[in-house]
Amino acid sequence: MADTQNPHAIPHVDGDDTASAFVPVAPFEIVVFGGTGDLARRKLLPALYHRFCDNQIPANSRIVAVSRSEHSREDYLDLIKSNYLDFEQDENFSEKRWAKFCELVDYAGIDVIDGDNWDDLRGKLDPDEKLIRVFYLAMPPRLFGEICAKLKTAGLAHKGSRVVLEKPIGTDFDSAHEINEAVGQVFDEERIYRIDHYLGKETVQNLLVLRFGNVLLEPLWSSSAIEHIEITVAESIGVGGRGSYYDGSGALRDMVQNHLLQLLCLSTMEMPASINADDLRTEKIKVLRALEPVTPDSVEKVTVRGQYVKGMSEDGQPMDDYLSDVGVTSSQAETYVAIQAQIKNWRWAGVPIYLRTGKRMSSRRSEIVIQFKPVPHSIFGKGTPINPNKMVIRLQPDEAVKLWLEIKEPGAGGLRLKTLPLNLSYADNFTVRYPDAYERLLMDVVRGNLSLFMRRDEVEAAWRWVDGIIDAWASVEQPVQYYPAGSEGPKAASDMLAKNGDKWADISPL
Ligand code: BG6
Repeated sequence: MADTQNPHAIPHVDGDDTASAFVPVAPFEIVVFGGTGDLARRKLLPALYHRFCDNQIPANSRIVAVSRSEHSREDYLDLIKSNYLDFEQDENFSEKRWAKFCELVDYAGIDVIDGDNWDDLRGKLDPDEKLIRVFYLAMPPRLFGEICAKLKTAGLAHKGSRVVLEKPIGTDFDSAHEINEAVGQVFDEERIYRIDHYLGKETVQNLLVLRFGNVLLEPLWSSSAIEHIEITVAESIGVGGRGSYYDGSGALRDMVQNHLLQLLCLSTMEMPASINADDLRTEKIKVLRALEPVTPDSVEKVTVRGQYVKGMSEDGQPMDDYLSDVGVTSSQAETYVAIQAQIKNWRWAGVPIYLRTGKRMSSRRSEIVIQFKPVPHSIFGKGTPINPNKMVIRLQPDEAVKLWLEIKEPGAGGLRLKTLPLNLSYADNFTVRYPDAYERLLMDVVRGNLSLFMRRDEVEAAWRWVDGIIDAWASVEQPVQYYPAGSEGPKAASDMLAKNGDKWADISPL
């Protein structure tokens, strides 16, 4: 039964299925390549388990994890169980439910590059070609094309099958194009699901509802009323055990090319004709194509690269620098990036869109700040300042939408204004558990709903803009600016906004 005291508790049933609020998807089989990798163990298997607990996954579905390691099925089940218990705070964990879930799970040890035992995988799949078959490639993107080709040769990629590609798709436009071409040789575009897990977050989907489900915002949503927009994805974690990947990638490729640009698109695109995948994606791509390219002439004015050095956490713990975290003696990889972007269209011309993301910042916070313009004229006199309105869309944590307004402070003795928020907090209004982004996205793949996945031209357009920045950085040899771990990022990022009379919102905890 659901724990009504704890909105994040996972409802479990120990007996037979109880009535569920979730509509079950059709039976399916999913093959997870990279089955022993971090993503599969931390996110994908737990996500499938949670959907199973909500009775959304029919019991005749199957999950086959594939990896090079020579695990038996039992070893693999032990591994995912101990990972689940380590990573998830599941107060209501049920051995019985977990055992039922395990009946769906199988394991195949295949070296996808050199192995010739693809028949082992075939033997674990249903020969019925009408059954939905999902291949999830939680592997380095350079292998995507090759794996797809092998699936084709092995006769496994039948018409009912679809493929999920984890980000990043490539490291630049050329590599992304090459991967898309190779995957496209095997799967039609409508069968390719390019994941950006930010699109699976509740609050990111809420952007669409907030903008297009309310009549109030649209008339104000342009340069006529908006001064600037700020999109921040700040993380308090460092690079963890992903140093070798991260050092070759940096924050621009890891976060901006995908998550931040998706947030930018959803915040600024025109209203799509419908919520259907192609209508939605067509509007997003128009934004990407309208982004002002960053050139060697503008790059130092509109971007800041940063890297953390030793610092202190919020609770006073010393934190290492990036170089020690990664185990290298020198690196110019950016762990922080701030960009002043411009969208060249009628709606947004002249409105700075500030993007910022960083590791080891003072706290974890993702939010979109819509800063409105000041009132054109004040009737209250010079001694009564009026703060411009602001809307803060908090994506995580403490999900909320806050609209800051001016009101009269009650009391005698003159007229004083106060700035207070209308606060639409998720915690105050909803007691449901928020599913992890992967839960929603995995079920959408099975349902065949592409709305929350990136189309090929979208990924390539994002790379074109990002490539411009990477090339410009190389051309002017723009160095990283250092910032202490646990801080709000390099001073240069504040200076960039100060030149326009603007200021970043605080990242420190509320
Ligand atoms: C991933 C990045 O895509 O997103 C990571 O590769 C980052 O570096 C993560 O930490 C952030 O996701 P979330 O959901 O924790 O905000």
